[in-house]
Amino acid sequence: MTIAITAVSGQLGGAIARNLIETADGETIIGLARTPENAKGLGIEVRPGDYGQPEQLQASLNGVDTLLLVSGMDAPDARTQQHRNVIEAAKAAGVRKIVYTSIQGAEEGTAFSPVVQSNRQTEADVRDSGLAYAIGRNGIYIEPDVAYIDSYKAKGEIANSASAGKCGYTTRTELAHAYACLLRNDTLNGQTFNLWGAPITQGELADHLNAAFGTSLTYREMTPQEYVADRTAELGDFIGPIIGGIYEGIRLGIYDVPSDFAAAAGRPHQSWPDYFGSLAG
Ligand SMILES: NC(=O)c1ccc[n+]([C@@H]2O[C@H](COP(=O)([O-])OP(=O)(O)OC[C@H]3O[C@@H](n4cnc5c(N)ncnc54)[C@H](OP(=O)(O)O)[C@@H]3O)[C@@H](O)[C@H]2O)c1
Repeated sequence: MTIAITAVSGQLGGAIARNLIETADGETIIGLARTPENAKGLGIEVRPGDYGQPEQLQASLNGVDTLLLVSGMDAPDARTQQHRNVIEAAKAAGVRKIVYTSIQGAEEGTAFSPVVQSNRQTEADVRDSGLAYAIGRNGIYIEPDVAYIDSYKAKGEIANSASAGKCGYTTRTELAHAYACLLRNDTLNGQTFNLWGAPITQGELADHLNAAFGTSLTYREMTPQEYVADRTAELGDFIGPIIGGIYEGIRLGIYDVPSDFAAAAGRPHQSWPDYFGSLAG
């Protein structure tokens, strides 16, 4: 069997590929990448895979049995067609099964909702493709908060609009294990899984970071309007409102939803004390 992973040059695609390579039992693992040279370090065949190039995608999916489609990074309206290009190329190339990395969140009511809507449209396109499929809805990555530790330290606080809302976070490593299971285990076909760990508040996130890094961070609540303005000033007009919208969703309870991680992955999600304990120096 040949398994292909799109966007294999990225952090999630790369993590899934590494998990599959480490656990392969006679399967061939290949990658697709818009920029194949960005994925050289994986040590597997990497074929061209630009979501905007249907013919290239079809040629690169030749001989692939099962495909992992990583959601794209473009604006929501462009993303839907890019994902359709991959699905159509998979059908034309004779791919048997497609696994899609979707996102949690609400389709209405926050500045992040257009991104969620585009992911839900691709879910529908995957379900309607006629191929065997499985879908994961990813939790919010927790690694960016860890990478941000020096900035948090400098400010002495985590400040955003999440208020007391809980968020279902995950890590790319845990997602990689879950997606390897969804790719290989056909008893999971036809289902959609929420993939995140135990939901936590921003205060609990600060406590975990303090335990791991010896900091004394506190949590400060901002209004949704203040936080969107803050993120837009730092990250620009496209990403700023999206990030603000995610934290507004946390505030509204949209990210405090039960997880199906164990059903997909065959074991519980790593606990947050374990994860942050592994980071402690
Ligand atoms: N759950 C969350 O918290 C969260 C947060 C951010 C994003 N996401 C979603 O998760 C996805 C994967 O995240 P990540 O951490 O792996 O992101 P990442 O490390 O930034 O990687 C993004 C990947 O997308 C590829 N890409 C961008 N445009 C493409 C196109 N037109 N055709 C083919 N590939 C393209 C990039 O390829 P190049 O090497 O050519 O640049 C790169 O491999 C993102 O794309 C986004 O949809 C989720």
